[in-house]
Amino acid sequence: MADRETWATRLGFILASVGSAVGLGNIWRFPFQTATNGGAAFLLVYLVAVVVIGLPAILAEFVVGRRAERSAIGAFDRLGRPGWRAVGALGVFAGFWTLSYYSVVGGWVIRYVGASFTGAYFGAPNEYFGAISVGPEAVAFHAVFMALVVGIVAFGIEGGIERATKLMVPSIVLILLGLAAYGATLSGAAEAYDYFLSPDVGAIVANAPSVVPAAVGQALFSLSLGFAVMITYASYIGDDESLGVDGVTIAATNTFIGVLAGLVVFPLLFTQGVSPETSGPGAVFVAMPTALSALGLLGRVLGLAFFLVVLTAALSSAISLLEVVVSYLVDNHGTERKRTSAVLGSVVFLLGLPSAWAEGWLGWFDSVAVGLLLPVAVLLVVFFVGWVMAEDAVDELRTGAGDRMDDLAPAWLWALRTVVLLAVVGTVALSLFNLTGAPV
Ligand code: PHE
Repeated sequence: MADRETWATRLGFILASVGSAVGLGNIWRFPFQTATNGGAAFLLVYLVAVVVIGLPAILAEFVVGRRAERSAIGAFDRLGRPGWRAVGALGVFAGFWTLSYYSVVGGWVIRYVGASFTGAYFGAPNEYFGAISVGPEAVAFHAVFMALVVGIVAFGIEGGIERATKLMVPSIVLILLGLAAYGATLSGAAEAYDYFLSPDVGAIVANAPSVVPAAVGQALFSLSLGFAVMITYASYIGDDESLGVDGVTIAATNTFIGVLAGLVVFPLLFTQGVSPETSGPGAVFVAMPTALSALGLLGRVLGLAFFLVVLTAALSSAISLLEVVVSYLVDNHGTERKRTSAVLGSVVFLLGLPSAWAEGWLGWFDSVAVGLLLPVAVLLVVFFVGWVMAEDAVDELRTGAGDRMDDLAPAWLWALRTVVLLAVVGTVALSLFNLTGAPV
């Protein structure tokens, strides 16, 4: 068999993965989830979840991908377990589902890029968000976002986006740092830090049934797990790379950017007198204009820069979701890339219509995706790696990693089989309760 193509550079893989991981999940979803789940308590559980569940799970996806050298659905065949293809298929379906509302939020971002020119969002940020987030215009901008994603995937020019990631990550960090520093000078800062950074352990325990699944879901979502994306990306990594080092790099960068977004959003919301609990999915969209309106023209320029960077981040995540399906069909069923992208993109667009049209749907699609589809998909991958391909998995994690992994790899397998598996099972169970509205 001919050598399969691999990433030209190690950085290529890291950038593509960071490009997928860093997205609306960090900048839009993280602050809003923190706000609806009690602030600091959520942050603490989230951080623990990244280390205890997210990191082992991302390594599990890497191991499957690199071992099989195949993208999600084909990977399980290649590992001699065709019965597990369904796991890849579930991931692909979950990705589709997620992209449908992700694109609606992407449409909001495009809208805010435009509004940065006119300053339209300055006068009454809360009302502005309310007016543009659902209805015919939201549908139109959802269409524009999907069209961009389809265009990029159809022409196979993700390379350009990956190169943009190189610029995107430092720009996001710089802009967020600047805004966080500005936030620190505001009157609401002290209250905001207290809210975001000092967890009340009693509250965590009392609210565990809702906070824990929300935080675990956020950790997995933000790392792009469960949707076969990391399996696919890892299928192109060479054997001379340490998966462990890559995993830690990606998880650390991604988590840092989410926390930084929180340090920006909360001081702004508190200063504006908007309570985090009521801000909902609009948190970042209301907070940013609030901060920037005091700065006049400079505020518009900064707003433009901010929303453009968020748009790049959203696009690089969205294309990773569509690309997984498109490349599977193109490689395995010989369909034509442009047509496949356009057809799939249209299906995603239609699926996103309810989320764009009326309030409430977006939240429902999101809770089904992150509360149910995603943890179930991760659960199956973790079980597969921990119990079905166990020895091969340890071997794969050690490949290219030097002797440091000699002890760490078996420890990782042990963690997957026990702590990670139990934690994900618990998350799925609690999410099911929450989704069906049964009292817990
Ligand atoms: N991790 C992305 C974000 O935070 C979302 C995503 C999830 C992308 C799953 C791909 C796969 O925005």
